[in-house]
Amino acid sequence: MKKYDLPTPALVLDKARFERSLARMAELAAKAGKKLRPHAKTHKSSAVARRQLEAGNCAGVCAAKLGEAEVLLEKGIENVLLTSPVVAPARIARLAELKKAHPGLWITADNAENLRALSACGVGFDVLADVNPRMGRTGVAFADAPEFVRTILQLPGLKFRGIQCYAGNVQHIAEAEKRSAATAEVMKEAGALVRSLRADGIDCQVLTGTGTGTAAFDVGIPEVTDIQVGSYCMMDTEYHNIEGVGSAFPCALTCLATVVSTNQPDFVTVDAGLKALYFTPHAPPCKAKEGVPDLRWRYEWFGDEHGRLYFPAGERPRLGQVVELTLPHCDPTINMHDVIYLCSGDEVLEELPVDLRGKFC
Ligand SMILES: Cc1ncc(COP(=O)(O)O)c(C=O)c1O
Repeated sequence: MKKYDLPTPALVLDKARFERSLARMAELAAKAGKKLRPHAKTHKSSAVARRQLEAGNCAGVCAAKLGEAEVLLEKGIENVLLTSPVVAPARIARLAELKKAHPGLWITADNAENLRALSACGVGFDVLADVNPRMGRTGVAFADAPEFVRTILQLPGLKFRGIQCYAGNVQHIAEAEKRSAATAEVMKEAGALVRSLRADGIDCQVLTGTGTGTAAFDVGIPEVTDIQVGSYCMMDTEYHNIEGVGSAFPCALTCLATVVSTNQPDFVTVDAGLKALYFTPHAPPCKAKEGVPDLRWRYEWFGDEHGRLYFPAGERPRLGQVVELTLPHCDPTINMHDVIYLCSGDEVLEELPVDLRGKFC
């Protein structure tokens, strides 16, 4: 099947660009002696996660939610780190069952009461202490981390594995120099924490964190063991605008949309709106040209089902034409689709189910 015959809106993944990005990130980490732990929150697809593992140099993959971890493990992916805390009693019970069935599940925690509830399950959870990179989303303060680690070590049924420090707040700093300085401040502190734990005789095997925006810098921190990069494999307009990121990792994933009305003088109407492309006001989608946003074209959301596409002079699309758009923000956009079509050139090769979709809890 040809990709321009797909029913639209449809997400298409360019195989060559996708595989190049997988190889590039694997090499970036390997050159620094680090591993990848790619985050499946981006693509929500066990088939994509498997391809990331096959590309090599991975310590495992990450999941954001318990439901995502369940699908990944049940689909045969053995090593999954759950990067968000699980605190509700019913979900802790599910987590314990999952751990019993899949020893390769690792978890994160940031609260001593939660640690006691996890310990009481008696299943031998492998735990990373989640440290707050001054973002405030989750994590214990750096100053409280040593005591928190000791609590993990003292509680039966818990095995301390290391530290997670994910600084999401610095990933999208546009200037590379400022981003590098901002991440160094946090990750050096995380590195110092690991050194001090080890100096106290604590077996701290892992320091994990890092997104696509800071990967190239964070691999230079000696104590970092692996990077939890997510967006690099798909890429979006938000990230493409960031210095040094778009040039290394092109937009492998795009959204096909059909021109459904051409009655206006300066724009055409396409059939991809808020339900097909997640809304981010500062980084709208753009017409894609070989993995790069073609800035001569401008997209505006036009309600739930439609978008306006403003075209350059002399390039008015015709009615029924299929256009290819970059994604504004890949993670929540993929979360709106059931399938990603893997393509080579214009040929559709395979359907990759978004099987972690809807697994919010
Ligand atoms: C804990 C955690 N790790 C890794 C990532 C991946 O980050 P990126 O998509 O910037 O590569 C995210 C993204 O939000 C995250 O929340």
